[in-house]
Amino acid sequence: MRKKVIAGNWKMNKLPNEAISFIEELENYVKDSENEVVICAPYTDLFYALNMAQGTNIKIGAQNMNWEEKGAYTGEVSGEMLKSIGVEYVIIGHSERRAYYNETDETVNKKLKKALSLELKPIVCVGESLEQRESGDAKTIVTTQTKLALEGLTNKEVEDTIIAYEPIWAIGTGKTATKEDANETIKWIREEVAKNYGEEVANKVIIQYGGSVKSSNAKELFEMSDIDGGLVGGASLVAEEFAKIVNYNK
Ligand code: PGA
Repeated sequence: MRKKVIAGNWKMNKLPNEAISFIEELENYVKDSENEVVICAPYTDLFYALNMAQGTNIKIGAQNMNWEEKGAYTGEVSGEMLKSIGVEYVIIGHSERRAYYNETDETVNKKLKKALSLELKPIVCVGESLEQRESGDAKTIVTTQTKLALEGLTNKEVEDTIIAYEPIWAIGTGKTATKEDANETIKWIREEVAKNYGEEVANKVIIQYGGSVKSSNAKELFEMSDIDGGLVGGASLVAEEFAKIVNYNK
């Protein structure tokens, strides 16, 4: 049985004081959840969020990292830096980073390898645009992104990777993929993993759905056979709403 992982992606939102009060509030709501609860916060919030989350079942993640250890890379943050303060998760290759900051399948692969070597849990994002979905290319796009992201990883590393299927047209738009479409696409991703790493690995990989997940649709999505939780943007900004998503099965 795969665990459900519900991760909030705050994107560029929340000052430290807001992060602190959010975690304080969330803690009570989710303390009895058997689902994995993760908050991916901006760099400037991480230290505060980690302090607040100590002794709770809330895990803290970053939203990006560099694949180099250190050096002349102005403005960048390394995996070692994240690890040194106790960060456990990191989002890699979010579609906003691919679209606005030139991330490619190649940089995604480098970051993924680096994160895994440091035992940071990566949440690697794949997903097609509306145009690609409408022209029937979704399967090729997501399976190719998956293959290239995971290239060169060991079976164990693939098992330790979380994949988030996020159709770009569903992110922040209020449009959610139907539960059937989301499940089917995630099955394509799982088949791609099986093709390259075997059935056993594929059956263990956690694959989330992301794109306008909210408390009103979380249950129907997360109850599908292949959807192992979600990556939640907008609806993760309010503790009570995010908690309802985490507690979808209560
Ligand atoms: P959304 O964002 O839930 O606001 O659509 C999801 C994401 O970008 O991870």
